[in-house]
Amino acid sequence: MLCISSKEFIFWKKKQLSKGGDYQSFAVLLECVAGITSSDLTMININQDGWIYLKKNLDFLESLWDDHLLNSKPIQRLCGATFWRDLKLKVTDKVLIPRPETELIIDIVFKIFGNKSDKLLFAELGTGSGAISIALALAYPYWNGIATDIDQDALKIAKENFTNLSKQSNLRFFCGHWWTPFESFKGKIDLAISNPPYVPQNIFEKLPKEVKNFEPKIALLGGEDGLKHIEEIIHQAPQFLKEKGWLILENHFDQGEKIKQLFICNKFTSVEVVKDLSGIGRFTIGRYK
Ligand SMILES: C[S@@+](CC[C@H](N)C(=O)[O-])C[C@H]1O[C@@H](n2cnc3c(N)ncnc32)[C@H](O)[C@@H]1O
Repeated sequence: MLCISSKEFIFWKKKQLSKGGDYQSFAVLLECVAGITSSDLTMININQDGWIYLKKNLDFLESLWDDHLLNSKPIQRLCGATFWRDLKLKVTDKVLIPRPETELIIDIVFKIFGNKSDKLLFAELGTGSGAISIALALAYPYWNGIATDIDQDALKIAKENFTNLSKQSNLRFFCGHWWTPFESFKGKIDLAISNPPYVPQNIFEKLPKEVKNFEPKIALLGGEDGLKHIEEIIHQAPQFLKEKGWLILENHFDQGEKIKQLFICNKFTSVEVVKDLSGIGRFTIGRYK
């Protein structure tokens, strides 16, 4: 631990923020690398004559901040961690940095199931860092969860995150293509969730540098029209869901209505496009029959 005066820190912080970037990213850097939380920052502002403790020196923090600003590298990649809902998750270049809009999936589940204490089985397809499944496994300790990813390296991160965040054993991980690893769970799943790769090819080419250059392609690309994986997931869902089981999918901003029709064509009822906080139809949900 290094100790510096609050005044020196405040001066340094102002200098860094004047170079550009957003405050939220800077706060991630401070918390993940320096160990300075938002309540520490409040205390520093209240008592500017005090001292603060840092896990890394200011030069090192500045080098990460510069790398972020100059090369458009996501700060979470540089810090190796991100905050998602109330979780701190490890992230590497093998997993998509879980997005704030995806946090709403958990609220959709809360809205559907409330605090039901039945023993349900939920499945996540394409778990990446494990964010969604881990949040559900923690919120519903009496539920059982199964999560897949095609990428072994991503699964390793998801498993590590689960072990770091929970002493529970109600979440298991499987490697494979979408529903394939769930052969033995056919007709048994109460709730399936996926935030699959849904970016259409032409949009992928135009994505901002921080996404196109630093997120795994396999986590983003959904084929020519973005619907390749979504179509497959919906089409096979009836074999795996229980009758009245729910399917929740995240989608690209303009895919909601098309996906709603796919749900209906595959015998789903109560189909709805759910908006995110920006008013975009970001999720499609429905019940199998
Ligand atoms: C958009 S990311 C979502 C990650 C995480 N669930 C989240 O919301 O942050 C999509 C994930 O699907 C995985 N994936 C891609 N193709 C797959 C396939 N054919 N079968 C299973 N998983 C796949 C990727 O490796 C990636 O982790």
